Amino acid sequence: MNKRTDHITREACIALDQHDPLGAIRDAFVLPASTIYLDGNSLGALPKATAAAVAKVVTQEWGQDLIQSWNTAGWFMSPQHQGNRLASIVGAGPGELVITDTTSVNLYKVLCAAAELARKQHPSKRVLLSETSNFPTDLYMAQSVCKHYDLRLELTDAKGLASALNGDVAVLMLTHVNYRTGAMYDMAGVTQAAHGVGALTVWDLAHSAGAVPVDLNSANADYAVGCGYKYLNGGPGAPAFVWANSRVVSATKQPLSGWWGHASPFAFDANYVPQVGIDQYLCGTQSMLAMAAMACGLDVFEQANAVGGMTAIRAKSLALTDVFMDLCAARCTEFGLVNVTPTAHQTRGSHVSLAAPNGGYAMMQALIARGVVGDFRGGGATGEADLLRFGLTPLYTRFVDVWDAVEHMVRMLQANEWQRSEFNRTQAVT
Ligand SMILES: Cc1ncc(COP(=O)(O)O)c(C=O)c1O
Repeated sequence: MNKRTDHITREACIALDQHDPLGAIRDAFVLPASTIYLDGNSLGALPKATAAAVAKVVTQEWGQDLIQSWNTAGWFMSPQHQGNRLASIVGAGPGELVITDTTSVNLYKVLCAAAELARKQHPSKRVLLSETSNFPTDLYMAQSVCKHYDLRLELTDAKGLASALNGDVAVLMLTHVNYRTGAMYDMAGVTQAAHGVGALTVWDLAHSAGAVPVDLNSANADYAVGCGYKYLNGGPGAPAFVWANSRVVSATKQPLSGWWGHASPFAFDANYVPQVGIDQYLCGTQSMLAMAAMACGLDVFEQANAVGGMTAIRAKSLALTDVFMDLCAARCTEFGLVNVTPTAHQTRGSHVSLAAPNGGYAMMQALIARGVVGDFRGGGATGEADLLRFGLTPLYTRFVDVWDAVEHMVRMLQANEWQRSEFNRTQAVT
């Protein structure tokens, strides 16, 4: 071990856990004893309260109270009600955010709304600008929107953003924390630059909400979407969320004019009249089972508020990622693994990615077999590096988990376990 990490011992990690203000929150989660779970950036862990809460919706609200539950159990207003609880986590105001649909679908809605508004304000603008390494669904959605609004999708890397952001740009769509590298944009600075050239901003908060402090209103962002199943622990396929600044929310209609976004859905009017404000971003009937699970994820953030909330979460996330990066640099470099996540605090989120020149997929499978669960993101068609991704989620990841995970990784690499044939068979989900 080199000098830089001499002070990081297993005992020191245990001591950090003992003084962790968020330490007790881990007990709110079901975590298998033999697993070190470092994939909360992909699927958050199960809150202990979720199974009973979902069972109550099934047995009581659905089973006994049946259709009355749309009123008596608050089902109908739950996208707004749960949205208001989530709003405070991302710097949105009450009544500005709803929980609904998927991130992909919400992206389509806000991209269309932004494109229409931009074209109204600046008819000559023709570019929807994004980042080459944005999550593919963002780019796929943008491709459809460009067809409908006669826009051209242009892609840049983060370094080229300032020069690509020119007077032709109608809409700038970025993911705040990059799904591959964990690199984080300065939302306020980039939004200001976009507004400076007359462009509207759409932010994807999939890897930010619940992981890093976000202040949509202070940043003066225009539109945002995000995901419920990652750091918000809402469960597999949890409903996503959508926010629009009150400056722009009613300036254009989102295109999916379903009855839940109608001004009076139970008037059963033959013509569509949108709700005022963010409620027009609702489309159709939501899954109340999924919403109940989502609410339990948000409950844990309320518990965390009592011990420092997002400030404490961010402080622990940075400390965890520092320890992980330092240990990996000291112990895994000799095996060819290279950290690609920015080391500067203000430019990274809560996951760390290591580039693996060879055998990255098999390495992750071998690690999972040892009980250390991260995931693999291949460079694929873009020719980027193959990455081992590790999400460090402050609500339940301990410092000792970080130590033990690196220890497993080193042993796995020393023994070349990843070369075994069973770790080299690619499964559908990586
Ligand atoms: C940045 C980003 N956006 C969107 C998604 C997924 O969108 P959806 O929930 O619609 O599948 C992901 C999934 O990992 C993501 O990383």
